[in-house]
Amino acid sequence: MEKIYKKNQLIKNHYDTSINLKIKDYEYHRWFSSINNYLLFNDTYKAINRELTNLKYSSVIEVGAGSGIWSKFLFLNSSDLQLYDVDISKEMINLHKKYFPRSNSVEYINEDFTLLDLNKFEKKIDLFYSIRCIEYIENFNKLFENINFALKDSGRGLIITKKAPLLRKTKIHTTNNGMVNLKKSISDNGMEIEKIRPVSYQFPVPYLRNLTFLTRFTNFSLKLIFKDKITWFNYLFLETYLVLFKKNAN
Ligand SMILES: C[S@@+](CC[C@H](N)C(=O)[O-])C[C@H]1O[C@@H](n2cnc3c(N)ncnc32)[C@H](O)[C@@H]1O
Repeated sequence: MEKIYKKNQLIKNHYDTSINLKIKDYEYHRWFSSINNYLLFNDTYKAINRELTNLKYSSVIEVGAGSGIWSKFLFLNSSDLQLYDVDISKEMINLHKKYFPRSNSVEYINEDFTLLDLNKFEKKIDLFYSIRCIEYIENFNKLFENINFALKDSGRGLIITKKAPLLRKTKIHTTNNGMVNLKKSISDNGMEIEKIRPVSYQFPVPYLRNLTFLTRFTNFSLKLIFKDKITWFNYLFLETYLVLFKKNAN
């Protein structure tokens, strides 16, 4: 019998029970309800667009698309896209359907990606895409094993994920997987990292991070100084980062 990952199930329950009941407009709440949220949206938007314009793809698996705010940018950069939205939460898939135009170009799969039967995708996918989701996934190695299985030779992966916050334990994120583990899981599974770069910074002290001017100042100055590099120093302030990787041809 397949192992059920408890943490992944907790996340499923969280999204299935909290989203539509508590929040009327998820995208507004998540990305536009405060200046800090908007800055985060803007940083994420710029980072994604910068990569997508350089990639060629027509078949994409997006894991944890949520409402689909980042799915739209996939379509802007490809005219013949087939998108598979794999989401563990039924409610999040319903949300995607609510925000996103009905189209034959999107197929919904309500499943934990690490438990999904991927036979129909074997070596068929140009791009694995996941924004602000993999920090929830418990079984990291299985995640990258599955990605490698589904990607065509020389297929790409584009991920934006969260770094574990300093001085605070998160309840549902499994960010303890960490950047070191992420790099190892990618290379252990026959893929190679092309880029890792910062997307957004935050002030790493609880409560102070909510002060808009501190977040703005931290973001502005660290971007100016470190540009696309991640060093031990700016790593302390990092909130999210982008990873672009490639499957090696067998
Ligand atoms: C924070 S939301 C991100 C949504 C969207 N990508 C965004 O940035 O607005 C995380 C999403 O990942 C999904 N998710 C978490 N773990 C998953 C798993 N193991 N398999 C598939 N989806 C998962 C959740 O249901 C949720 O829709």
